[in-house]
Amino acid sequence: MATQDDLKRIAAEKAVEFVPENEYIGIGTGSTVNFFIEALGKSGKKIKGAVATSQATADLMAKYEIPQVALNDVMGLAAYFDGADEVNHSLQMIKGGGGAHLREKIVASMADTFVCIADESKYVSRLGKFPLPVEVIPMARSMVSRHLLAMGGEPELRLNFVTESGNQIVDVHGMYFPQPLTSEDEINKIAGVVENGLFARNAADILVLGTADGAKVIKPQ
Ligand code: 5RP
Repeated sequence: MATQDDLKRIAAEKAVEFVPENEYIGIGTGSTVNFFIEALGKSGKKIKGAVATSQATADLMAKYEIPQVALNDVMGLAAYFDGADEVNHSLQMIKGGGGAHLREKIVASMADTFVCIADESKYVSRLGKFPLPVEVIPMARSMVSRHLLAMGGEPELRLNFVTESGNQIVDVHGMYFPQPLTSEDEINKIAGVVENGLFARNAADILVLGTADGAKVIKPQ
C-alpha cells in the first residue's frame, strides 16, 4: 500500500510538468515541496531562478543546483509551487504547519499561477480540522489569543518555535472556515497578527493531488 510520502512524491513529480522554462518561479516549504525540489533538480528543466520561502528550501535547492533569486530582484514570478495542510474544493488552503506561511504568502502573491502539491489526505470539503497557524508579534501573543478565543477558537502557543522572521505561532483549534476569505481578513485585522495561514486571497489555481490511482490535476470547483 502506498504511504503518504509515496503520494506526496507522485504529486511532486507530476507538478514538475507545470514548471515554465526560462522563467522565475517561487518554491514553498515542507516535505512535499522537498520531493518537488528533488524532482525538479533531476528533471533537467531550466529556469531563470527560484525564490525560496525558507532556509530549508534554499539549502535543498542548492543541493540540486537550482538557481536562486531574491524576491527583491524580480518583478514577478510565472508560477509558485507549494504544499498545504488542507485544501478545499475551491483550492483555498490552510498552510503554515511548518511555520513558513508568512514568506509563503508573500511569494505566492507575486506569482501568476499557484500550483498546490498535496497527497489526497489534504483534500477536504471544509477547512479547519487542521489547526490554523497564526503568526504573531511575541509581545502580543496573549492579547491575540484572547481575540481568537472570543472568535470561537482554542488558541495554543506553538512551544519552542520561532519563525524565520522572529515571531511566534499560535495554532487555533476547533474553528471551521465556511467563508475563508472573510476569516482570513478578520484574523489579520487583529493588532499583533503578522499573518494567518488561510490562503483564500491567494488560493491555488491548480491542485496536483497524489492518489492511490496516480496523480490527478484538479481545478477550482
Ligand atoms: C509550511 C507549509 C507546508 O506547505 C504545509 O505545512 C505542508 O507540509 P508538508 O508538505 O510537509 O505536509 O505550509 O509552512
